[in-house]
Amino acid sequence: MKYSAVILAAGKGVRMVSKLPKVLHPVAGKPMVAHVINQVKAAGIENIILVVGSGRQEVEEAMSGEQVHFVVQEQQLGTGHALMQARTAAKHSEQVLVLAGDTPLLKPEMLKKLIQFHEQQKAVATVLSCEAEDPFGYGRIIRNQEGFLECIVEEKDADVSQKAIKEINSGIYCFNTGIIFDKLANLNNNNSQGEYYLTEVIEILKKENKQVAVYLSPDSESIHGINDRQQLAYAESILRQRINIQLMKEGVSIVDPLTTFIDSEVKIGNDTVILPFTMIEGKTVIGTNCRIGPSSRISSSLIGNNVNIESSRILEAKIGDDCNIGPYAYLRPGAVLHSGVKIGDFVEIKKSVIGENSKIPHLSYVGDAQVGKGVNIGAGTITCNYDGFNKYNTVLEDGVFIGSNSNLVAPVKIGKNSYTGAGSTITRDVEEDSLAVERAAQKNIIGWAKRIKKQ
Ligand code: UD1
Ligand code: CA
Repeated sequence: MKYSAVILAAGKGVRMVSKLPKVLHPVAGKPMVAHVINQVKAAGIENIILVVGSGRQEVEEAMSGEQVHFVVQEQQLGTGHALMQARTAAKHSEQVLVLAGDTPLLKPEMLKKLIQFHEQQKAVATVLSCEAEDPFGYGRIIRNQEGFLECIVEEKDADVSQKAIKEINSGIYCFNTGIIFDKLANLNNNNSQGEYYLTEVIEILKKENKQVAVYLSPDSESIHGINDRQQLAYAESILRQRINIQLMKEGVSIVDPLTTFIDSEVKIGNDTVILPFTMIEGKTVIGTNCRIGPSSRISSSLIGNNVNIESSRILEAKIGDDCNIGPYAYLRPGAVLHSGVKIGDFVEIKKSVIGENSKIPHLSYVGDAQVGKGVNIGAGTITCNYDGFNKYNTVLEDGVFIGSNSNLVAPVKIGKNSYTGAGSTITRDVEEDSLAVERAAQKNIIGWAKRIKKQ
């Protein structure tokens, strides 16, 4: 095995002022460290070692599906000490790519170029650097008069002239495995933060006349590190922009990219139009030729082709082809709509299957229901699915017509092609091809209004 990757993710992330470990803060809907892992995989490295410490359990749990090896840094004594913990896990690879868990904007091409350069230079250590407009907070690359790398100085240890240097350390490096782990043992913590800096290894290698190199990348945006919430928001804006651009390349229309928020794992078919003020989250999949928005939020849902969704909230739902949703519909977990279904304004659907071409156009609550094909549910109808203790099912067979403002008290079943009269409270099952009405006979008192006004 030629390369292993070590991702340092044990730090506390004090500057985030958060209970959540820094590397788990989401960017475009995914923990920042998961972005780093994915980009390393995309660069072709399979053996990935994640150094965990602060919030270790949470991080291990969140990344358990990612096929990485975890090593623990019990005390967070600095980046050099963190890398040291990966010694055993990395020993079978000739070289190690080292990264931080807080740089989610990385691109695989950039990592590949670093590796290529490291090999061309036959270096034992290669640092990925770039020119930053605002270098504040980063380690600075100090070069000698011939332009060769001398050392890296942290912001907190830098003097005025060093602070003026714009070339920064990305925190991404390639090292010769055998050599780096030996040298890490020689680090000291004589610096302003009292930490074992990984960056100090450069000076140690230089003193021994080992070949160290810098790969200066033109892409400063992609190495952006996140230490605080402002940097988090910046990373979010960049990643969202990249996602939108990629989708547009694939044939999705995004009318206003600035007000469209799409998570990194979302998939959308071509000729779908996303209208402004729309969020599409989680692992949502949307088909082709849909119109989504304006003002909709869709999370972890599957949506077919030719679907319209306007001003609605869709959460863990499945929507078949040719459905029309909203405005102002709320589809909750377990809502499954077959094709051609219409869900109109102020309708809430929970854990219910709605058959082909059925319509629930206005002001309804449908929960724990099985609705057949071609059913029409009149305005204001609700399934009374809960008695304060348990939930019960409602079954509406094919072709049923529910009159407006019906209460369907579950458990209850309405047989094929039957009707309920408007305003009925249905508590008993109804046979096929029948009408169920439950309400008092109407009484008209002639002249009543005139009499009352004379009094
Ligand atoms: C580090 C670099 C700096 C570089 C910058 C790039 C050092 C000393 N400094 O600074 O030169 O410009 O990254 O973004 O390396 N970590 C651990 N254990 C620890 C300390 C940190 O695992 O004991 C992890 C953190 O979780 C984080 C990464 O290492 O993912 C970097 O640590 P951080 O404190 O963010 O370093 P910076 O101050 O940003
Ligand atoms: Ca950092």
